[in-house]
Amino acid sequence: MYNLSQLFRIQKTLRNLNYPDYQRVSKEIAIYAEDEKKLEKILRQIKTRKPWEYIQGQTEFYTLSFKVNRGVLIPRIETEQLVSTAIQEYKEKVFDMVIDVGTGSGCIIISLLKSLQLPSIFSGNTKKTDFLATDISQKALNIAKDNIKKYKLGKKINLIKSNLIKNIDLNKKSVLVLANLPYIPTEQYKKLNKDVKSFEPKLALDGGKDGNKYYKELFKQIEESKYKNFTLILETEPSILKNTQNIFKKYKTVVLKDTYKKDRFIIVRG
Ligand SMILES: C[S@@+](CC[C@H](N)C(=O)[O-])C[C@H]1O[C@@H](n2cnc3c(N)ncnc32)[C@H](O)[C@@H]1O
Repeated sequence: MYNLSQLFRIQKTLRNLNYPDYQRVSKEIAIYAEDEKKLEKILRQIKTRKPWEYIQGQTEFYTLSFKVNRGVLIPRIETEQLVSTAIQEYKEKVFDMVIDVGTGSGCIIISLLKSLQLPSIFSGNTKKTDFLATDISQKALNIAKDNIKKYKLGKKINLIKSNLIKNIDLNKKSVLVLANLPYIPTEQYKKLNKDVKSFEPKLALDGGKDGNKYYKELFKQIEESKYKNFTLILETEPSILKNTQNIFKKYKTVVLKDTYKKDRFIIVRG
């Protein structure tokens, strides 16, 4: 536990810095910092605006704990809905393959599989499905590998270095594709807060001029593959969602809102 005067001191520092979610972070720091020396070290890093998750080296997502470092995006709470939507899809249809494209820390595919392994959530089995996770960043793949190992899913998830789904054989397969690809338009990216821009990987955030660079490329790659059928669940930026939806206009699409009531997810069925 922590002492209250220490907590107030941390809160004051974070509040003065306008640190995001400062009350929750203050409590976590107070619990984590066992002694004065450790606390001083943390506060020095906090003052540089380094995200608490990177200082601590871990974060929570979908009730699980994930290792993170500056090689990966800190999983966002909005993305948890992508996982719950994927669980629903998986329960309703048989898929030969599930691919998490741009896996980062591995949070999406690990949370999905851990949930599917709970009999209270899914009473079927996942044996007939291949689970793949791809990323182009070796740093991200290293962290994903550690998280996969932590949750003992090494035999279940095939981790692949790939440009999106290039060279993955979808021939005659029924595929569920999950994608939270970089989607922030470059001009918007340049204006992000220092705690995001200076610490989180640009490769995980900058979606090119119109924010849709990666989804356009993913569309092309899906078109070139000889899938039997696919369901794609993607996350995008509300301000560009209509354009993202337009990329997939030849297919049936459904838009879902996030927890803040913003249009953020698209389900594409082909
Ligand atoms: C927005 S982050 C999402 C990370 C993780 N899936 C999550 O939801 O927290 C996008 C990820 O896509 C990866 N990425 C960027 N370009 C890629 C590409 N061409 N092929 C595969 N992955 C890519 C980045 O390295 C990053 O890990």
